[in-house]
Amino acid sequence: MCGIVAYIGKNTAYPIVVNGLKRLEYRGYDSAGIVLNSGSSFTLSKTKGKVSDLEEKAENVDKVSTIAMGHTRWATHGVPSDTNSHPHLSNDESIAIVHNGIIENYEPIKKMLTSKGFQFHSETDTEVLVNLIQYFRDTEKISLTEAVRYALNEAIGAYAIAVMEAENSNKIIVGRLSSPLAIGIGKDEFYVASDASPFVEFTKEALYLEDGEMATLELGKAIDIRKIVDNTKVIPAIQELQLTLEQIEKGGYDHFMLKEIYEQPKSIMDTMRGRILVNEGIIQMAGIWDNLEKFTNASRIIIVSCGTSWHAGLIGEYLIEDLARIPVEVEYASEFRYRNPIITDKDVVIAISQSGETADTLAALKMAKEKGAFIYGICNVVDSSIARLTDAGSYTHAGPEIGVASTKAFTAQVSILSMIALKLAKHTGKISNQQFHLLASELELIPEKVEKTLKLDEQIKEISKKFVNATNFLYLGRGYNFPVALEGALKLKEISYIHAEGYPAAEMKHGPIALIDENMPVVIIATKKGHYEKVVSNIQEIKSRKGIVIAVVTEGDEQVKGMADYLIEVPETSECFTPLVTSIPLQLLSYHIAVMRGANVDQPRNLAKSVTVE
Ligand code: G6P
Repeated sequence: MCGIVAYIGKNTAYPIVVNGLKRLEYRGYDSAGIVLNSGSSFTLSKTKGKVSDLEEKAENVDKVSTIAMGHTRWATHGVPSDTNSHPHLSNDESIAIVHNGIIENYEPIKKMLTSKGFQFHSETDTEVLVNLIQYFRDTEKISLTEAVRYALNEAIGAYAIAVMEAENSNKIIVGRLSSPLAIGIGKDEFYVASDASPFVEFTKEALYLEDGEMATLELGKAIDIRKIVDNTKVIPAIQELQLTLEQIEKGGYDHFMLKEIYEQPKSIMDTMRGRILVNEGIIQMAGIWDNLEKFTNASRIIIVSCGTSWHAGLIGEYLIEDLARIPVEVEYASEFRYRNPIITDKDVVIAISQSGETADTLAALKMAKEKGAFIYGICNVVDSSIARLTDAGSYTHAGPEIGVASTKAFTAQVSILSMIALKLAKHTGKISNQQFHLLASELELIPEKVEKTLKLDEQIKEISKKFVNATNFLYLGRGYNFPVALEGALKLKEISYIHAEGYPAAEMKHGPIALIDENMPVVIIATKKGHYEKVVSNIQEIKSRKGIVIAVVTEGDEQVKGMADYLIEVPETSECFTPLVTSIPLQLLSYHIAVMRGANVDQPRNLAKSVTVE
């Protein structure tokens, strides 16, 4: 994880880099740092904590330089501390580096460098890399660019780096392997960042470095991209950024998470826009259409993902098996990649990832590709690593998601999976034209129903007040709403730090029921379609053990009303689309509880939005 930012040009670099770091804090916020280059020496300021702490610390630092690099960290090697914070300098203080990723073979390199007299002040792998660069530059008598290339050829692991030399204030060198790196190209200036958000208001011209590439950004010269392995020249693929400033600002909301929860009618609509043609009986998705046979002839579809995206994958399994009758398996990417799974060229592997950068998902996909599977991506970030690796895919058009806890990306993923299931079901004749018409029309109504569900916000806020001091929560659901229960529990624990468990409602009696007493809040999804009567029985089981029931039910429900302590009524929809509606109150519940507990909902402790380490 971690975020890196660098600037070289004619403007004062400090505010550009610091504001850029703030936009990248979703990538980690254990520490922050900046290094400015005066043309002969570095000014370094770094601290444990957030970018706002860095601003305080750097208050008196000379900020006139027009070249600087910054870093916001999610700790991997070494505890969060001032010393372990980036940027790191080489032993002779002539080279500075910022790094996102992990250098896996740093130990033997460190040993070698130590034997040559190098000293290390931090516990980081990054300090090893910057000294390796110094070592190559000095022993081989080569330029910094060449020294970076030599060092990167020795490094095993993942990196996006930016490097500069104290004596050379018109050049920054960057390189990437498995960690994202975007370059913004202005007039006589360059921007570097882990994603394009830090420079969106300055330039629309950008390029994304590919794996195994490095670039020299030198004032007065065109960007020079090379392959790290053999220094061959690469033609820059410059593109126009679609991102806007408005998309990455809070827009009057207290938190990004709340803004993103409220954006869902629009983000779901954007994800479906132009894709559902009810009257023509068509779901228009080029990625599926062009590869229809691959899907319909697949021996099975395997969905790989992590976190919230994995929960979306579980809903995808229910949808595709239920509607299209194609076997689906859902795997945690981190398990899948290491368990020697059986994959053949008859398999379709779908990766779901908001960021498109999650290291385990990316590695799982690479493995599936090597074994001959057809690989498909469902990503939110355009041009992300997963999007570029896959044979085909569908973007969720949810817009940038900045709150670390995923909300609108989740419902956008489920919307895509709903459309894929419908398309495959229609094409294979597993549903009739009439059923298709019914379901597609219902899917089109989801944004409206989500809008209506959001009106429950005040009621949910009131309910939340009762549970600010809860220590445990259970979330239960069946069928399509079992993954929603898992996601509800994940949301709560991520941002409020209350322990929460999601469970299939019927499994409750095989364990969690032992936890139920008068202090245990149980959120249970009991919408009308989908095992309703059975869930009602589960509610009775909870009540007879004095548990506190917060029930999410279909509007107009009478039966659960008499039993539940708190009732949240959501609009009715087809059973297979209920997750798109029932997940909304659970997002709001966790949001309000977390805010009332004084937690930082957008940047929960220890988490990061984009997990680019395994
Ligand atoms: C992190 C984030 C989660 C996200 C997961 C997978 O844990 O905090 O919100 O669901 O990574 O990320 P991806 O970008 O692959 O969907």
